[in-house]
Amino acid sequence: MKTIILAIESSCDDTSASILADGVILSNVTANQDAHKEYGGVVPEVASRAHQQNIVPVVDVAIQKAGIAKSDISAIAFTRGPGLIGSLLVGVSFAKAFALSLDIPMIEVNHMQAHVLAHFAEDPKPNFPFLCLTVSGGHTQIVKVTDYLEMEVLGNTIDDAAGEAFDKTGKLLNLEYPAGPIIDKLAQKGEAKFTFAEPNLPELDFSFSGLKTSIYYFLKKEIKTNPNFIDENINDICASVQKAIINSLMIKLIQATEETGIKEIAIAGGVSANSGLRKEIQIEGEKRNWNTYVPRIEFCTDNAAMIAVTGYRKFLNKEFVDQSITPVARWKI
Ligand code: KG4
Ligand code: ZN
Repeated sequence: MKTIILAIESSCDDTSASILADGVILSNVTANQDAHKEYGGVVPEVASRAHQQNIVPVVDVAIQKAGIAKSDISAIAFTRGPGLIGSLLVGVSFAKAFALSLDIPMIEVNHMQAHVLAHFAEDPKPNFPFLCLTVSGGHTQIVKVTDYLEMEVLGNTIDDAAGEAFDKTGKLLNLEYPAGPIIDKLAQKGEAKFTFAEPNLPELDFSFSGLKTSIYYFLKKEIKTNPNFIDENINDICASVQKAIINSLMIKLIQATEETGIKEIAIAGGVSANSGLRKEIQIEGEKRNWNTYVPRIEFCTDNAAMIAVTGYRKFLNKEFVDQSITPVARWKI
């Protein structure tokens, strides 16, 4: 009999469900929430309510697409954290009810660990040990991965995450939330001709709050002499912002590969969908003889396939949790 995992992801503003059979993804269905756009960021209460509306239909579609029956499911994996507590609560509560009704085990999954293991959703898969630059809306980390569930964080952001740097800059530029994909698109038509303050942190840590301040004062100064500066230069501003963020990430990633001697290099998380970063990783990889792993966009942004892959590894180790489990907003990998 096959081991079939149903996985649920609801840590932020995407409701996602996935079915995995003996390590192979059969379906990965995600409902995005548009409701946050007008607020310029994710509103936790709105996100939680949208998850409640989306979760049952999303799970139904995932099961249908996989061509399985509910009774075939061996275990349910869910994101326990880190994330927004009201959002997580919907996924955790659903998982508990589902596990009870089918009398199957539950598996808790760390969202950041899952972003790293998204690389095992399909080929090519990295070899251990590998380094993963995990860049999302809430986190920016360099992780050393020695086995599926053995990870060590080598570097972290001390303030904003890379995705936040994109999104907060987008706000200064009057772009919709999330601004990351919009900046990416506009940057492709522009030239990175403006420069901003670069962080200079010891070791493998990151900082993005200085960049945001530098961009703020740069725009303020330019707008004083030309009130239409943003509109007239939007493509070049976006290209410059994107280049600055990518530079900060690449400097530390290169440093990490030199310090560890590891040449298996992966990127993960929402910001790894960025076309500039994807290109840069390939270029540096060729120059430095790295084997690079860049997941399909579907597996970069929040998705349940990565929860399923992680859940499957825990299933093999029989790492189950019981009905007393509660979500956690913060949880180190
Ligand atoms: O991993 P993710 O989907 O959710 C979190 O766990 O945070 O990441 C979302 C972040 C947002 O900040 C969004 O702006 C950013 O990923 N993002 C991008 C791109 N696509 C998503 N940033 C830059 N370029 C993109 N193409
Ligand atoms: Zn994420």
